[in-house]
Amino acid sequence: MAETNGTIGQEQQDGLVSSTIPPPATATHPAQKALPPQSASWNPATLAMHADDPLNLLTDVAPPIHVSTTFRYASDPSVLRPFRLSDRPGNNFPYQDADEHCYSRLTTHSTSRLEAILESLLHNPCVTYSSGLSAIHALLVHLNPKRVSIGDGYHGSHGVLALHTRLSGMKVLDLDCDANELQAGDLIMLETPVNPTGKALNISHYAEKAHSKGAYLMVDSTFAPPPLQDPFTHGADIVMHSGTKYIGGHSDMLCGVLSIRQDLAQDWLPRLLEDRVFLGSVMGGLEGWLGVRSVRTLELRVMRQSESAGRLVDALSGALTGATVGTGLSQSDVETIRKVVEDVQHASLQSDDWKAGWLKKQMSNGFGPVFAVSLKSDELARRLPSKLHLFHHATSLGGVESLIEWRTMTDGTVSRNLLRVSVGVEDYRDLLDDMLQGFRSLTEELEL
Ligand SMILES: Cc1ncc(COP(=O)(O)O)c(C=O)c1O
Repeated sequence: MAETNGTIGQEQQDGLVSSTIPPPATATHPAQKALPPQSASWNPATLAMHADDPLNLLTDVAPPIHVSTTFRYASDPSVLRPFRLSDRPGNNFPYQDADEHCYSRLTTHSTSRLEAILESLLHNPCVTYSSGLSAIHALLVHLNPKRVSIGDGYHGSHGVLALHTRLSGMKVLDLDCDANELQAGDLIMLETPVNPTGKALNISHYAEKAHSKGAYLMVDSTFAPPPLQDPFTHGADIVMHSGTKYIGGHSDMLCGVLSIRQDLAQDWLPRLLEDRVFLGSVMGGLEGWLGVRSVRTLELRVMRQSESAGRLVDALSGALTGATVGTGLSQSDVETIRKVVEDVQHASLQSDDWKAGWLKKQMSNGFGPVFAVSLKSDELARRLPSKLHLFHHATSLGGVESLIEWRTMTDGTVSRNLLRVSVGVEDYRDLLDDMLQGFRSLTEELEL
């Protein structure tokens, strides 16, 4: 790590604390590359490769792995000064220069670079956390709402709410509670597409409901990462991601992200960053590095996963409804699917919502790569994963590897005949063939 040149500048200090402040207009380090003015119009795939260029102070093309927990201060004593209250985290960190970090519970090179890229992809300032749930926890600590309205979805998010109910008496309301039950400062937590079905809910509707009462809308957009969905354009105040899923994308890191609408971020960011220091829920340096490495290919991965999921859903649901044109299924495939599959759920099947207009606006770039298949019995659902060769039977989602999960194993709230499918980057034709041979094998085994 290069030593600093001793210049103390507010922009540079803020740039350290998070990636949310524009990078310096001119490079201050020999190897540093400032973003050119035309970067404002770069597309997401380009930004994922270059938004962190100003934070690369070395000549390395590939991001280096930093593991240090502590960082040397400037060598010039004239720029050193005692800590002041105004140096509170997120406000005015006691750092000496843009290339200097202090302690890894505050910031690290890799996580700052990851935040810079995420900010460019989510279009608003981003703070990373050690997991998706720690991001939700941090938001609740920050807002300390009296009421939170939430629907079905990831059971772990409900677990975080239960913890806050225990601590503060916070009340949990149904997602479709009467708007009059909400008051200023309350929170609607909307997960869309929703876990485990991949079905979509109307963000604008819940944004209007929240704002009519002075409450905030947080969208858990984990199941539709960029470029599939931008909840801010439909009224979200906060967008949350379990970065463990598509942002990480390789089933090897935990990460949470809060992105805050620009005008709120002015006030909120210093507090969120300060809280994070004391919650201690930062990503590790290695995870930050994995995040930078992975997010570079986010668009490539997600677009392919989304398209493949759409084709698999088309084939399975087409077999049930008779709409098999273009699916490549034979009559015998259709009969096999009908013997085993009861129902398929995915946002691509919400034709009424598409016609109504909101779904088309919300997911015009494609649907999420997760869907649910309900089989004709619990026993079939328990057995199918063991018959598949290309789908790992495992929880989680969003990685390059396709996964299938007999969902009742981790979520006691869902029907026992439900399987959750997370489509990876394999060729969808191989994935479909694998499912078909799995169904066939079950029909033979159980003599259906
Ligand atoms: C929709 C959703 N939100 C939040 C989380 C929690 O994320 P993490 O496991 O990174 O804490 C998950 C995890 O599966 C999820 O599916």
